[in-house]
Amino acid sequence: MLIDTHSHIDMDNYKDRFDEVIAEAKDFGVEKIVIPGVAPSGFKRIVELCEKYENIYGAVGVHPEDLAAFDADAESLIREYLKHPKIVAVGEIGLDYYWDKSQIERQKEIFEKQILIAKEIGKPVLVHDREAHFDTFEILKKTKASDVGVVMHCFSGSPEFAMECVREGFYIALGGVVTFKNAKKVKEVAKIVPLERLLLETDAPYMTPVPYRGKENQPAYVKFVAEEIANLRGVSFDEVANATCENAKKLLAL
Ligand code: NI
Repeated sequence: MLIDTHSHIDMDNYKDRFDEVIAEAKDFGVEKIVIPGVAPSGFKRIVELCEKYENIYGAVGVHPEDLAAFDADAESLIREYLKHPKIVAVGEIGLDYYWDKSQIERQKEIFEKQILIAKEIGKPVLVHDREAHFDTFEILKKTKASDVGVVMHCFSGSPEFAMECVREGFYIALGGVVTFKNAKKVKEVAKIVPLERLLLETDAPYMTPVPYRGKENQPAYVKFVAEEIANLRGVSFDEVANATCENAKKLLAL
């Protein structure tokens, strides 16, 4: 059994073949899928999918790339949707200095605000950190986000940073990048992070793992991520699958 903890299958890319994508995930042993939110305009669709499909869960939050969409209305929407039993986390939220360095202060502000909402409601945070490791870590520590649980989604830091995150009690989520031949850092991370801190994800439609690299990603392919991590660690596929499933179930109350 596998769980894809981060999959943007609410995107229009999947609209016409949604049932097919879900069926294929099941064929590949993917038991549950979590759809993270990126902007308020998408929250309703995520909840609809959660209600229609027993194995789909969601999160709500404003992504740093969508920071213009964060206002008082967005904040109250996030609070409202978090009451839903299948909305299991606040996310994806975080910092992205690759995308736009001109609004760093605003990014930090809305990241922190959303962590505080998560803490108030008691649900974990799904964190997007792109070229912003230091500030992301500082804010997570300062706000004691680990009290509710932290997922470092699509982890891209060094092995040392991964272990710093582990010491803070954060979870490290790995996706298709770990299967890329030249992804030395991520492969090292996959080897050293304790199994009880690892989560699997696809980040579909992005980051498609080998052997489908270059094609559109989908939740089924989380299987290739698990296989590669098992190879790197020298353990069985089942060991990785079971541990990461248990972690996701516990942290996200799936
Ligand atoms: Ni994402």
